[in-house]
Amino acid sequence: GKAPVRVLITGAAGQIGYSLAIQVSRGTMLGPEQPIILHLLDIPPAAQSLDGVKMELIDAALPLVHGVLATTDVEEACKDVAIAVMVGGFPRKAGMERKDVMSKNVSIYKSQAAALEKHAAKGVKVLVVANPANTNALILRENAPSIPPENITALTRLDHNRALGQVAERLGVHVSGVRNVIIWGNHSSTQFPDVAHGTAGGRPIPDALRDEAWLRGDFVSTVQQRGAAIIKMRGMSSALSAASSACDHVRNWVLGTEPGTWVSMGVISDGSYGAPKDVIFSFPVKCEGGRWEIVQGLSIDEYAAGKIKVTGDELVEEKELALQCLAGE
Ligand code: NAI
Repeated sequence: GKAPVRVLITGAAGQIGYSLAIQVSRGTMLGPEQPIILHLLDIPPAAQSLDGVKMELIDAALPLVHGVLATTDVEEACKDVAIAVMVGGFPRKAGMERKDVMSKNVSIYKSQAAALEKHAAKGVKVLVVANPANTNALILRENAPSIPPENITALTRLDHNRALGQVAERLGVHVSGVRNVIIWGNHSSTQFPDVAHGTAGGRPIPDALRDEAWLRGDFVSTVQQRGAAIIKMRGMSSALSAASSACDHVRNWVLGTEPGTWVSMGVISDGSYGAPKDVIFSFPVKCEGGRWEIVQGLSIDEYAAGKIKVTGDELVEEKELALQCLAGE
């Protein structure tokens, strides 16, 4: 059989970590043939809970799992990992300023970048889930210069999948027939969910729906606000769908996207489609041979250009704030 691949999950004692560990262990991320060794990292206050997760993974008698390392030592956690899913971070608490949250995450992502750079396997693929996901990924990139920038990505696949789900529900069709929606920009409420180039059952989504008011109104705001809506319903974050989408992100990145289909990924911007350069921006991408490529040549109307501008401006502003925090370290 294949040699096991080491997969790091940070924040592994948290909500998403708990869902993600089992999905990765059952082959959802790297396929049903790929054995794995899980590296689970959390901080000392969560160490006991993390050990509990490890106990459960042993109890699940998982054929693909060839080892579980549960640790609070970031250097040990990063050793030889080929995939790193960064879910750990400092959440925004009531009454906290945005800058304070940013500053906490900047320190976390700076030190974890250094550990990854030093200890991860060559060619490590990094997915940042923890918010602010795009900017945490940017900080990671700034502090891990030897990791190629294309190997550092942020999760917007959950937003992408949410857009597919909303269109499928509205049309009353199966979600597998809906494809090529796009999430542009930031994983935040400024993101632009765009269906102009998407299809449902082979028809352009705008033609199938014939409801521009919905597409520019409730559709956009529902996808943008879905995370908050789930928290309101469950009293907890959207852990199941975030974990499932993180598996989709890595699986497509490593194993490729289907011909004729693209997905959304937060990747280093080259300025395509009027996005600001050198921020982690969500684009439509195709993947092959373990590499992503931004889909080129899509037409962007004035409405879309305006939306791309808003979310791009926010990312530039976040970047400036993060760099200020970094300078103040
Ligand atoms: P959670 O609070 O349940 O878990 C976070 C875990 O990270 C905790 O166990 C905490 O101890 C750990 N942690 C904190 N600092 C750490 C550090 N320096 N190193 C390692 N671990 C550390 O939160 P949940 O619900 O699992 O969400 C995790 C993150 O994912 C949050 O930032 C959330 O906003 C974000 N998120 C992102 C989504 C996306 O689509 N990009 C979707 C949903 C959530």
